[in-house]
Amino acid sequence: MSASSLALNEASDRSPLHPFPEGWYFVASRADFRKGKLIHKTWLGEEIVAWCDERGRVCVADAVCPHLGSSLAPEVGSRVCEGRLVCPFHGFEYDTTGRCVATPYALPPTSARLKVYPTREIEGMVFGWWGLRGRPPQWELPDVPSRSRTHAGESRWTGLRFHTIRFPGHPQETTENSVDLAHLRYVHGYESVSRVGDIAIDGACLRGSFDFKARLGVGRLLSTTFDVSAVTHIHGLGYSQVDFEEHSTGYRSRLWILSTPIDGTSVDMTIASQVGGMERPKGLGIGLRLLPLPVRLDLMNRMTLRMETGYVKEDVLIWSRKRYLTRPRLNQADGEVLAYRRYCEQFYEGLDEDHGRTGGRLIARQI
Ligand code: FES
Ligand SMILES: [Fe+2]
Repeated sequence: MSASSLALNEASDRSPLHPFPEGWYFVASRADFRKGKLIHKTWLGEEIVAWCDERGRVCVADAVCPHLGSSLAPEVGSRVCEGRLVCPFHGFEYDTTGRCVATPYALPPTSARLKVYPTREIEGMVFGWWGLRGRPPQWELPDVPSRSRTHAGESRWTGLRFHTIRFPGHPQETTENSVDLAHLRYVHGYESVSRVGDIAIDGACLRGSFDFKARLGVGRLLSTTFDVSAVTHIHGLGYSQVDFEEHSTGYRSRLWILSTPIDGTSVDMTIASQVGGMERPKGLGIGLRLLPLPVRLDLMNRMTLRMETGYVKEDVLIWSRKRYLTRPRLNQADGEVLAYRRYCEQFYEGLDEDHGRTGGRLIARQI
């Protein structure tokens, strides 16, 4: 067994959490669905394929042909032709609803349907719904104002930039960082971190706000302190969005932290960023006025993604080696961790015993 697979197994053995809580999980960016491309990956323990037709309609489906069970992976010979997925074994063709619409030698059987996952798209990010025993979506992702629908007078936003990191972990553990404000100082070096109001929980949505100062640069003389407000929107364990506003420069950014279980031991963490504001940069950013706005915003987005990826890598060092404690010994200032874990219970309903792991409800009783 290789050192890396040994590390993954150890991570799996030490987590009592069910590996696949219900929710919406990132599949791929819209750009990845470029015409004719067939995406193939392991997602929530399933082998899936995803593609879009010529009208841009997306399909995410299990990579198994319902005719005689061929794999629909492109490596086996599966392909997209005129918006239809064509099986390499007998040439059955499927549209983006999953229906078999043609075969090379007879009428298509009406019972031949791919197992498809409901999808949603936000700002060029495509998500699939992972429902308990295949049930339909129980709640929705947020309605994020997109660039194309931004009202007059509001900030212009860049497109999204992406970076993905794979490591041993679990989406509940990674998302817990959003309420664990204490780590922001010790892991990331933020200063003056303060919660603004209580976290608010409404069904599958958890919202929290905090302010902090971040010192960027080298040494005391060559560094500057930035004054930042952040609002976190969590919608299940696969979707976290953080809106940042820096008060001295007028910089604004949106960051998505999308944690997607792969195989029960590892997660793909996709970081997506976009930048807005900066129409009239102030303070240290005033020199950026020399650049046209789109260039200015794109430059800031590149820097943002690099910086945030660096912060996430600091977290990965902890996440990939930590254990999930069902009875954490918290201090008085850690109260929101418990509120967060109670919020998480809803995503394990009906999963109490599976894969030899315990669900969120049992964990909550043990705390
Ligand atoms: S197994 Fe796919 S067409 Fe026969
Ligand atoms: Fe962090």
